[in-house]
Amino acid sequence: TTSAIPFEVNGQPVTFEQDPETPLLWVLRDHLQFTGTKFGCGAGHCGACTVHVNGRAQRACMTPVASIKGASIVTIEGLAEGETLHPVQQAWLEQDVPQCGYCQAGQILATVDLLKRIPQPSDEQIDAQLTNLCRCGTYVRIRKAVHRAAQ
Ligand code: FES
Repeated sequence: TTSAIPFEVNGQPVTFEQDPETPLLWVLRDHLQFTGTKFGCGAGHCGACTVHVNGRAQRACMTPVASIKGASIVTIEGLAEGETLHPVQQAWLEQDVPQCGYCQAGQILATVDLLKRIPQPSDEQIDAQLTNLCRCGTYVRIRKAVHRAAQ
């Protein structure tokens, strides 16, 4: 049996009416075409699928859509305010962080959440709190961009 699951993505109301166990990642990518949210490991480890659920970073591959009923989701596509990039996106550009880029939407969304909790994080706090993986090893530039965004 299925029931309608209403929620919001980037300020727009949506309803999902298929299997309520479907991971939010696939609802976003396959049903709503928000393909900035990436599939990496599918097991909650890598963070490529990070989105915001009611303002907090969460791994969408481990989030059954039923669990976000009524919630407000923000993906990388919804982070800028019109033409104005979010300060974290701006810092990412200025530090030229991405190499392949695959993990960076998740890195940015995780950083926005981190800076809400810890506005001026130390390197140690960044390393401990940003658990998103990057296969290209852009961690040094990520750290610099986090500090830049924190200014
Ligand atoms: Fe979700 Fe890796 S794809 S944590």
